[in-house]
Amino acid sequence: MVESLTIRRPDDWHLHFRDGETMRAVVPQTARQFARAIVMPNLAPPVTTTALAAAYRDRIVAAVPEGVAFTPLMTAYLTDESDAGDLAAGHADGVLTAAKLYPAGATTNSAHGVTDVANIMGVLERMAEIGMPLCVHGEVTTPDIDIFDREAVFIDRILQPLVDRLPTLRVIFEHITTMQAVSFVESAGPNVAATITPQHLHINRNDILVGGIRPHMYCLPVAKREQHRLALRGAVASGSSKYFLGTDSAPHHRHAKESDCGCAGIFNAPFALESYVQVFEDEDALDRFEAFASLNGPAFYGLAPNEERITLEKAPVEVPQEVDGGEARIVPFHAGETLSWRLAS
Ligand code: DOR
Ligand code: ZN
Repeated sequence: MVESLTIRRPDDWHLHFRDGETMRAVVPQTARQFARAIVMPNLAPPVTTTALAAAYRDRIVAAVPEGVAFTPLMTAYLTDESDAGDLAAGHADGVLTAAKLYPAGATTNSAHGVTDVANIMGVLERMAEIGMPLCVHGEVTTPDIDIFDREAVFIDRILQPLVDRLPTLRVIFEHITTMQAVSFVESAGPNVAATITPQHLHINRNDILVGGIRPHMYCLPVAKREQHRLALRGAVASGSSKYFLGTDSAPHHRHAKESDCGCAGIFNAPFALESYVQVFEDEDALDRFEAFASLNGPAFYGLAPNEERITLEKAPVEVPQEVDGGEARIVPFHAGETLSWRLAS
């Protein structure tokens, strides 16, 4: 039996830090595990320009604890009015690693998102030209589409046509949740990759709805049927270089989740690696964990992997019922559970 695993320090290729006091509480929890993270721009108001991203980056860096090496990788929030020149300059200057497509209305703070991909075609063409990656929240938002079908319909209506039209655009299909997404990624060229969250590897929709509504299991895209969870586990266990770690860690305070209109988002930052590695052990794929966590992401983004190593050891760790969230407490993913791997300090 494997008792410990030493790998290059991983990165988180998709998460939410928020701002202000919440940000200052959650940044150290990610920096404990990861060397870099792609930071989502869905603040209120959103991070739409290079200047806003540079200022946000400085606020995040100021929240990294003394003596900890952590680099935030910034994204710009695309709107119908995005300026291709500003984004290209921000990318060239190293401020912007990528740009993020939120279909308007798809999720938290996405009201300013893109109403029709046709409106940003000029920006996407420029991004394809300069090799700037596009992060995609892949759900349609039209009310006639059932929430459990929104990802699959997005592939047919938006993503496949986009990839066909701009075959050199580097696309990260983020937090995928369906077998249709796995098939799409498999069949697409090497310029298309996907991130997968710990929660979508662990839970299916029963975990949200059976025996009572569990608001802390609710995120978007919402967890789907078991067959989809199994397809995602198969994808990460396959060892394909097209999949990499992206937690979608999304802090919302307890009262905002336990509400008559609870926010979407699962806060998994405190025990993200412990959560993922369990999946790889269950799938008999521990030998593939380093590529998923530490190699495939940097390779896709054209960055070097981290030199530092971390060790995960087989030892129980108890996940607390609540963790520090700044202004209020946050219930983390796996709250109250005992996980069987622990990050050695
Ligand atoms: O569950 C989610 N929470 N999904 C998203 O796409 C956004 C995120 C958030 O910002 O809370
Ligand atoms: Zn997200």
